[in-house]
Amino acid sequence: RIVLNVFFLATIALGVYFVLMGQTKVGTVVFIITTGNVTIEGLGEIFNNYSKILRNLVSVNRLTEIMNADTEIHNSPTAIVPTTTTGAIRFEKISFNYPGKDQAVLEDFDLQILPKQMIALVGRSGEGKTTVAKLLCRVYDVNQGQITLDGNDIRTLDRDWYRRLFAIVQQDVDVFDATLLENITYGYETATSAQVDEAIRAAHIHTMIEKQDRFPDGLATQVGERGIRLSGGERQRVGIARAYIALLNGAKFLVLDEATSSLDSETEVAVQSMLNTIRKKLDISIVAIAHRLSTIRKADMIYVIDGGKVAESGSHEKLLAQNGLYSRLVELQKLGALRK
Ligand SMILES: Nc1ncnc2c1ncn2[C@@H]1O[C@H](COP(=O)(O)OP(=O)(O)OP(=O)(O)O)[C@@H](O)[C@H]1O
Ligand SMILES: [Mg+2]
Repeated sequence: RIVLNVFFLATIALGVYFVLMGQTKVGTVVFIITTGNVTIEGLGEIFNNYSKILRNLVSVNRLTEIMNADTEIHNSPTAIVPTTTTGAIRFEKISFNYPGKDQAVLEDFDLQILPKQMIALVGRSGEGKTTVAKLLCRVYDVNQGQITLDGNDIRTLDRDWYRRLFAIVQQDVDVFDATLLENITYGYETATSAQVDEAIRAAHIHTMIEKQDRFPDGLATQVGERGIRLSGGERQRVGIARAYIALLNGAKFLVLDEATSSLDSETEVAVQSMLNTIRKKLDISIVAIAHRLSTIRKADMIYVIDGGKVAESGSHEKLLAQNGLYSRLVELQKLGALRK
C-alpha cells in the first residue's frame, strides 16, 4: 500500500515537473496517472487474489483428499453408472492394510448396512473405525474380499457416481479460508437458499451465528486462517451442515465420524437433532462412528470392532446383556463421565 502511494505521488510530481518544463501536456499526465493507478490497483488485486487462491488451494486439497486423492483408486474402463440403488452395502470377508504397511488393519471383516438403517461402529482407538468409513467411501480399495452395493462389487461401479452417494462428516472437519456460507456449500455451490436454510438449522449453526459479536456478517462472515477461528465443535457443525446439503442433493449415506475429544454440549445437541431430522425426513442410511451413548443408542445395529474384526454386533440392549466388550466400553465411558 505505502509503496503504491509513494509511486502515485512520484508520478504526480514528475508530471507537474514535465508540464512546467513544457515537455508534455496536462492531459497526457492525467492520462498516465489514471491508467497507471488503475493498472497498479489491478496488479495489487491480482496479487491479493493469488495469495488467497494459493491458501485456499492448500485447504481445498486437504478437503478433497477423501474425494479424489488416491491415485491407486482407478475408475475401471468398464465401470457402470447404475440408474438406481436401494443402498444395501456388504463388506464380504475383506482384508485391508494401508499402502506400504504389512500389518492388516482389518482381516476377514464382514459388515452389512441395510437400506435406511442406522449402524454404529464402536471400538477402542486405533481399531479401524475410520478405516472402515474410508473403505466404504472408496478412498481405498480392499486387498481381499469385496464390498458390494446391491450385490455389485463397488469396483465395477463408476467411482465418482459412487462417491457422490456419501455425505461425510469427518472426525476433524476442514475449514478453508472463505465465508461460512462458502464453507457450508462447498461442492454444492448450486444449493438453493432454502436448502442452506434447512442445513444451518439442522446443524444448529443459526444459534451459533446469533452470537452477533463473533459473526458480525452472519453466514457471510469470513472464517479460517484470515477470519474467525472456529472451535472443534463449531467445525463439526460446519461439517454437519455440509453433509446435510449433500444429502438434500442426492447422497444416500451419511457417514458421521464423531470427534473423539469431548465436544461442547451444544454440538452434541446439534448432532442429535440432525440425526433425528434426517431419519424422519430423508430415505438414507447412516453409519455413525460414535463415542457418545446418546448417538450409539439410536442405532439399529451396533458393530463392536476389535482385533481387525467385528467382535460383537446387535442392539444396545442385546449387547449390554452379553456382558462383553461393549458393556465394558459403556462402563468405561460412564467412568470417564463421572470423573469430569
Ligand atoms: N493413512 C494411514 N496410513 C497408515 N496407517 C494408518 C493410516 N490411517 C490409519 N492408520 C492405522 O490404521 C489403524 C486404524 O486406524 P483408524 O484411524 O481406522 O482407527 P480408529 O478406530 O478410527 O481410531 P480413533 O478412535 O482414534 O479414531 C491404526 O493402527 C492407525 O495407526
Ligand atoms: Mg477414527
